[in-house]
Amino acid sequence: MQLSNKVKSVKPSSTIALTAKSAEYKAQGLDVVAFAAGEPDFDTPDHIKEAAILAINQGKTKYTPAAGTMDIRKAVCDKLEKDNGLKYLPEQIVVSNGAKQALVNAFLAIINEGDEVIIPGPFWLSYAEMVKIAGGVPVVINTRKEDSFVVDPKDIEDAITPKTKAIIFNTPSNPTGMIYTEEAIRAIADIAVKHDIFVISDEIYEKLIYVKDKKHVSIASLGPEIYDRTIVVNGVSKSFSMTGWRIGYTASNLTIAKLISSAQSHMTSGPCSISQAAAVAALTGPQDCVEEMRKAFEKRMEYIYERVNAMDGLSCLKPEGAFYLFVDVSGVYGKKYNGKPITSAAEFAAYLLEDKLVVAVPCADFAAPDYLRFSYAVSIDTIKKGMDRIEAFLGKLE
Ligand SMILES: Cc1ncc(COP(=O)(O)O)c(C=O)c1O
Repeated sequence: MQLSNKVKSVKPSSTIALTAKSAEYKAQGLDVVAFAAGEPDFDTPDHIKEAAILAINQGKTKYTPAAGTMDIRKAVCDKLEKDNGLKYLPEQIVVSNGAKQALVNAFLAIINEGDEVIIPGPFWLSYAEMVKIAGGVPVVINTRKEDSFVVDPKDIEDAITPKTKAIIFNTPSNPTGMIYTEEAIRAIADIAVKHDIFVISDEIYEKLIYVKDKKHVSIASLGPEIYDRTIVVNGVSKSFSMTGWRIGYTASNLTIAKLISSAQSHMTSGPCSISQAAAVAALTGPQDCVEEMRKAFEKRMEYIYERVNAMDGLSCLKPEGAFYLFVDVSGVYGKKYNGKPITSAAEFAAYLLEDKLVVAVPCADFAAPDYLRFSYAVSIDTIKKGMDRIEAFLGKLE
């Protein structure tokens, strides 16, 4: 029997597969050092957990409106106004099962079969697959290390065709750890308005910034025309260490919000009622937990960056945000591991895992075949152990 060509074209997530593999090794009692998961290692702050327990005890255990409770949509509106200078009505917000579902919803709402979506690479691997799920065609354009992996407006213009429907970008970026300047964001906004295309702005790492003079700018705040064309995507997973609670959201114009809400009402209904109550506490409660976690990530970033850059054959830019170190390993190409030459980051990662039980993510699926992504959302001791092993691994290459 013929199955769906559209879904068959979707590749499984290689990062989720790697995370599962390292969990499997750990379960076998092996001393794995995993830099794979894009997930803060901190516990969810207590006041958020308590809000969830209260919600259970108060019987908030029923379906909610498909777009989320009025409480959470109001909390999101307040957050967007306070942090990003964006004014939305609760009706313009749809709360979903993580930013992942929010992104898929956004693509489903705007894409017709064959529409193109421009994706500046290196990009978070799910974007291209999500576009395909929605029936669209991902059009990847490459950014350059010399430009800190920030997209050149000319490259966007060159990629635009009559079928272009949208551009998606992510700042701070997974996997590069770079931040778009306001100037770069303004250039994207101008192009989107000029060519009448949508922008999907993934701002999930906005709270994790390590450069004093770089502030997060939400593209939708740059004027009414770009506000109308932008779907802002954000959530609580990364800022509040709430990955398992599955709460993300979109903010968009009312027409798009209605479409997203309607589609979601048939697919999943509203997200978990208890998680919504917890996310309200996250968004409206004390914010010092966010800053504490950011500071801890910054310390780890400084350490891992110094260690990796001191290693022969590896190089990386200093991360400005998120929690990833994006490492160019092409400097070791041609060296041999047990007589086998290394010709790609994927081979480097496979040999490193085999020899030293260190897991890093090869970035071919992120449009960066010479790079490995190291998530530093793990303890300093783990980072130190992993770095010592990588040094030893490099030392034995011939
Ligand atoms: C850039 C980016 N956007 C969205 C997500 C999805 O976040 P959530 O866990 O809320 O679905 C991730 C998670 O890894 C991410 O890295």
